[in-house]
Amino acid sequence: MVMTLDITIQGETLNVSQELLDRYNVPGPRYTSYPTAPEWNDSFGAADYERALRLSNDSRRPLSIYIHLPFCERLCLFCGCNVVIRKKHDLLPQYLEKLKWEINRTAELIDRSRPVVQLHWGGGTPTYLNPAQIEDLFLYVKDRFLFAPDAEIGVEVDPRVTTEEQATVLRRLGFNRISMGIQDFNPVVQQTVRRIQPYEQSKALFDRCRSLNFESVNIDLIYGLPHQTPESFVDSVDKVIALGPDRVAMFSYAHVPWLKKQQGSFTRLIPLGMDKFRIFRAGIERFTREGYQYIGMDHFARPDDELCVAQRNRTLHRNFQGYTTKAGSDLLGLGVSSISGVERIYAQNYRDLKEYYAAIDQDSLPTMRGINLNDDDVIRRAVISKLLCHCVIHKKEFESEFNICFDSYFADELARLEALQNDGLVDLTADVISVTMLGRIFIRNAGMVFDRYLQTPKDRPVFSKTL
Ligand SMILES: C[S@@+](CC[C@H](N)C(=O)[O-])C[C@H]1O[C@@H](n2cnc3c(N)ncnc32)[C@H](O)[C@@H]1O
Ligand code: SF4
Repeated sequence: MVMTLDITIQGETLNVSQELLDRYNVPGPRYTSYPTAPEWNDSFGAADYERALRLSNDSRRPLSIYIHLPFCERLCLFCGCNVVIRKKHDLLPQYLEKLKWEINRTAELIDRSRPVVQLHWGGGTPTYLNPAQIEDLFLYVKDRFLFAPDAEIGVEVDPRVTTEEQATVLRRLGFNRISMGIQDFNPVVQQTVRRIQPYEQSKALFDRCRSLNFESVNIDLIYGLPHQTPESFVDSVDKVIALGPDRVAMFSYAHVPWLKKQQGSFTRLIPLGMDKFRIFRAGIERFTREGYQYIGMDHFARPDDELCVAQRNRTLHRNFQGYTTKAGSDLLGLGVSSISGVERIYAQNYRDLKEYYAAIDQDSLPTMRGINLNDDDVIRRAVISKLLCHCVIHKKEFESEFNICFDSYFADELARLEALQNDGLVDLTADVISVTMLGRIFIRNAGMVFDRYLQTPKDRPVFSKTL
């Protein structure tokens, strides 16, 4: 018997069969970079990164800065982020001191006239810092870079540990976007993943942020957590809709127990395949029926939000922080494990505090690995980025930008895309590749067709599944 489910997104009803899910719900990258991190190598080091930073000044491109603050007081069992769990805050001063060294050294290499159009603090939990530490770190960065007047300044917060005072300080300093980790409101799910977070606590912080006039107040949810059902998840989604965030990230739970051992404790409890898809369907139908637009790759926003406008205008961009309107900037990642993307290179910092500190103690930027992109990488990066962000590729644009004949350069890929066309995921014409609404659900799979490195199988698991 062939099992199929109808799913209605923005007025369009689509049919998803078990067979389709089996074919496309496979391990695949999230394409926050291309080539993806497993392809980077440790022969790329601090000297290469420094050279790239210096050279990037010629382009005068604007800057996007990411600062990683890895500490959390307790570990949520589902967590896939790079975290340092420490109830006592005794390790923080040393981290902030080393981080400042890295900020200062990076600023010395960057032309002071290049404007910062985006600053994002992620983690871990940035509000592990007390108000005085938040202010001190922010002003340290502000003193060393030139901020554009309309810069997007965002922070990730955990409502369980974020006080009114911290929110007030963040707003006063100029943070204008705030994202709250909620994940799921159901008490059974919360107990299983060891993240107890009463609704009233999240609502109180949400309301506080609204009264402080943050320009964008956003919420993170995760579907696919243990014990979730479509009904229980809809209840969480309804509570989120009642709060009224500007954007929602409804992340697919990434189960990677070979990297995050603690996730293994509930492997047998997580919904898989059609069961996970039912939960996804429940969430997407509810958000889109309530007027949120599906950007793709787990993200929703109000139709007048600049993310939706940028997607329509084909100026949307994707980097390590997800979707952004700030295309064309160089990304400087600061802090342990953080990633930089500067023109034709990616560089990643050491993921372990000891190694991160040891590099800095030797007056070196803490670069652990990276990659120099070749011409083919640059072309494929642009194709994958356009597919994921705009859901459409105009071949002529590539031909004039990269001086290639699209059909012959990508003859193999176009042949492979025919299978996706037969399954209703893409439409292929002589000039255009467009992703259908069904294809948006499996957008990572469309990107994977153009990923040259996936053609060589890996000897170990690397990515979570695409759905
Ligand atoms: C650094 S955390 C956000 C800030 C804060 N630490 C918190 O949890 O509230 C960023 C987001 O990553 C998402 N996340 C973490 N682990 C994940 C996983 N294994 N799969 C999918 N999303 C995950 C969560 O939605 C989380 O809110
Ligand atoms: S989900 Fe957030 S609070 Fe929980 S461990 Fe991960 S980073 Fe820390």
